[in-house]
Amino acid sequence: MNHNKKTVPMIAERKNSLKKIVALTAFDYSFSRLIDTTDIDIILVGDSLSMVAMGHSTTLPVTMDEMIMYTSAVRRGCNNSLLVADMPFMSYQISNEQAITNAGRFIQEGGAQAVKLEGGTNIASRVHALTYLDIPVMGHIGITPQSINRHGKYQVRGKTFEDARKVKQDALALQDAGVFSIVLEGIYDDLAAEITQILKIPTIGIGAGVNCDGQILVLHDLLGLGMDSSPKFVKKYTNLANETKKAVNNYIQEVRDQTFPDANHSYNLKSEN
Ligand code: KIV
Repeated sequence: MNHNKKTVPMIAERKNSLKKIVALTAFDYSFSRLIDTTDIDIILVGDSLSMVAMGHSTTLPVTMDEMIMYTSAVRRGCNNSLLVADMPFMSYQISNEQAITNAGRFIQEGGAQAVKLEGGTNIASRVHALTYLDIPVMGHIGITPQSINRHGKYQVRGKTFEDARKVKQDALALQDAGVFSIVLEGIYDDLAAEITQILKIPTIGIGAGVNCDGQILVLHDLLGLGMDSSPKFVKKYTNLANETKKAVNNYIQEVRDQTFPDANHSYNLKSEN
């Protein structure tokens, strides 16, 4: 047991704290290890890896086995932050039994401390089945990328009174079912602020304005390594795509003009004697 590692109750208690919860995704050991040395609270192995790490056009194709593989790699680098794993499309929709089996795999095989499920009133019974068995659940409402085929596009939620009412109902249903926090994705800021005020559990926003209890971003987006076009809520804090291309071009140049490898990067028997 690592006594420095953040826990689900520690995150839930932050509802009443002035310190915002800060979360990021990670998909591999190297980045997990790196960001885990910062003060980041939560590392999410998001199913966005289907697009970002695997090159699919949506989050739908990634499978349970693939998510477990990525989660266990991230787990090996995650010694301080809370590790949450995303349940992929069709890993919990069929039945409570299916949801329990697959969430259990994330805990046992992946080393996650909690799972995240997309949906509101429609998945409340799944959430209850998991939390009843001591598997902590993070909710995810608003834009739910696994519903792309129903909506046809990623549409910001809460524009009409009726839609805002539905989103609030989803938030309350998840809270009643026992989630310890809820991701609010792509929700008009006033509605996100109202939901944050109504709920007793923390909200973690992504495209939901400044009044949530915390924020999450996809690490690759923050680093400027994301998709060519990104949603309005993405902020690039650096441009590692340019830095990477620059480094690779320098390498190509030096190999071709034979300035690399130089003596400092070669083993030379004569100089050792
Ligand atoms: O899959 C993901 O990365 C997510 C975050 C955007 C919240 O669900």
